[in-house]
Amino acid sequence: MGSLKQRKTIRKYQQKDIPVDLLNDLLETAFRASTVGNMQTYSVVVTRDADRKGKLAPAHFNQPMVTAAPVVLTFCIDLNRFSKWCRQRQAEPGYNNFEWFVTGAVDALLAAQTFCVAAEEKGLGICYLGTTTYNPHLIIEALELPELVFPITTVTVGWPAEDPAQVDRLPLEAVVHEEVYHDYTPEDIDRLYAYKESLPENRQYVTENSKATLAQVFTDVRYTKKDAEAMSELLWNIMKKQGF
Ligand SMILES: Cc1cc2nc3c(=O)[nH]c(=O)nc-3n(C[C@H](O)[C@H](O)[C@H](O)COP(=O)(O)O)c2cc1C
Repeated sequence: MGSLKQRKTIRKYQQKDIPVDLLNDLLETAFRASTVGNMQTYSVVVTRDADRKGKLAPAHFNQPMVTAAPVVLTFCIDLNRFSKWCRQRQAEPGYNNFEWFVTGAVDALLAAQTFCVAAEEKGLGICYLGTTTYNPHLIIEALELPELVFPITTVTVGWPAEDPAQVDRLPLEAVVHEEVYHDYTPEDIDRLYAYKESLPENRQYVTENSKATLAQVFTDVRYTKKDAEAMSELLWNIMKKQGF
């Protein structure tokens, strides 16, 4: 797929498997990512089975990548394994709390992203699924996750069957702050978002959704406050139910 700077998300895959050896090698590479206290507070569930993908699909609002990709990886926060090891070695673990939920999430996401970079380097295409944290209870059920294990992100992987154009990014100066944070003036915001707002596909997006601005497509259609509040409550409740 070329250099890391040329990368892009791939959502369509060839009907061609990923050899077990290749996948395991990529996972081993992923697990070389930095990890808190060298504890590896994560697990990865590999889904290849069509029936299991079918069970996962509704949790991801039936995004077609789940059933079309040869491999679906669910990256989970895992304080279960480490806590078991502690108890088996006369040590009392204190990892059933929000602090370790966040730490486990950081750990799992570093491993996930390292996997993605390594996979793309081998010519595979990947897509993250943010829907993992929208319906965690359905994923917990489908993958039989025990207490202190929580799905934090999903990556679909396969050989690309599309070659989409790269999508835009904000300019460097929008994201990078020299020495201290420089807050944005209204003029900065106008300038930094001008390119994104000028893109024909984004203009079309505004029209299609009968909105006045691109920002309104985000706030009123794609990521609404109402949905976010409902999902926050669910996420918190399921986190508690999983023992954190
Ligand atoms: C945490 C996270 C969740 C995402 N969730 C989805 C998703 O549910 N469905 C999807 O099609 N793409 C998803 N994506 C991919 C983004 O849409 C994509 O990275 C972004 O549009 C930029 O495109 P690019 O990766 O090709 O540069 C997700 C990406 C991240 C990092």
